[in-house]
Amino acid sequence: MAVYRPPHIPSSEITPKDVWLNRRSILKSAAALGATTLAAPLAACGQEAATGTSFTTDEPITPYQDVTGYNNFYEFGLQKTDPARHSGDFNPRPWTIEVDGLVNNPRTFDIDELIASQMIEERIYRMRCVEAWSMVIPWNGFPLSALLNQVEPLSSAKYVAFETVVRPEEMPGQRGFFQPLPWPYREGLRLDEAMHPLTILSTGVFGETLPNQNGAPVRLVVPWKYGFKGIKSIVKITLTEQEPPSTWNVSAPSEYGFYANVNPDVPHPRWSQATERRIGTGGFFGADRRETLMFNGYADEVADMYADMDLTRYF
Ligand code: MTE
Repeated sequence: MAVYRPPHIPSSEITPKDVWLNRRSILKSAAALGATTLAAPLAACGQEAATGTSFTTDEPITPYQDVTGYNNFYEFGLQKTDPARHSGDFNPRPWTIEVDGLVNNPRTFDIDELIASQMIEERIYRMRCVEAWSMVIPWNGFPLSALLNQVEPLSSAKYVAFETVVRPEEMPGQRGFFQPLPWPYREGLRLDEAMHPLTILSTGVFGETLPNQNGAPVRLVVPWKYGFKGIKSIVKITLTEQEPPSTWNVSAPSEYGFYANVNPDVPHPRWSQATERRIGTGGFFGADRRETLMFNGYADEVADMYADMDLTRYF
C-alpha cells in the first residue's frame, strides 16, 4: 500500500503555510494525475488559496490507512473494511460519465480526457459522516461547476441528479439474496449547491489516483453535507427541474433528508449530531470527540444558500 510522504524540504519555514499547501497540491496532483497544461490557471489558483482558507485546513490530516480502510461503499459490503477488501475486481478504466437532461449541450465525458482537461487541485476538507465520525481528507479534483458549465444548463434546470455504476459481476454487495439498498445508488443536489466552488468531483486522494474503495474513478465531495451525499463511481449526471431521488432519503425518509447539511442542532432521530469522533486520533483511549460545527465549519461560505429555509424541516 502506498504511503503518503510530506515533502523532504520543510518549505513551510520559508513560505506562508497556505501558499505552501497550495503549491504542494498543484505539484503533487499534476505529477500523480498527469495534468499537463497548468501554467495559466496556476497564478489564479495561487491567489485564491492565499486569500481564502476554506479550500484547506490546518487540522491534522487523517492517516492514509483510515481514509482508505474505513469506508462506506455498500456495493462492496456493509462493514467499514469491506470496500477495501472486496473492491479488487472492480475496474475503473475505461470509464465515461454521461451528462444529460436540461442542458444545451449533452455530452459523454471520458474520465481520462476530463482529468487532462481540468486543473486538478488539492482540497483538504473536513468530512463529517451522519454516523457521527469525521476525517480530514486531502482530495484531488476539480470543481463540479467546471463540468456543468461545459454542458450549459438551461434556465429550467434546478437540480442535479447523480448515479453510480451497477456491476454485480465486479461489486459483491450487488449480488446475492440480500440487497441492502436499491441500485443504482443515487444522489442529488440543488443547482446552486452543485455550482458552489467548494463542491468538487474528486479523482484522487493523497496525490494518488482514487482507490476503488474511495469511489474510483470519480466521486462527489460536498464538505458541508453528511458523507452519504458523496456518491462514488459516478456514471451519469442529469440536470432536472424536480428534486431527484437520493438513495438514503428514499430508503429511510424520516432519517435522511434530501439536504443532509451537517447541523449539530438537528439530531438524527436515533442519535445526536452535536459531537463527532475524529477517526485516527486518540490512540488507546479511542478517538477524540469534538463539537460538530454548523455546516461542518463551512457556514461562512454556504449559509446564505439556506437563509430562508427551516433547517429542521429541510434536514
Ligand atoms: N456511494 C455509493 N455509490 N455507495 C455507497 O454506499 N456510501 C456513502 C457515500 N457514497 C456510498 C456512496 C456514505 S454512507 C458515505 S459516509 C461516504 O460515501 C463515505 O465515503 P468514504 O468511504 O470515502 O469516506
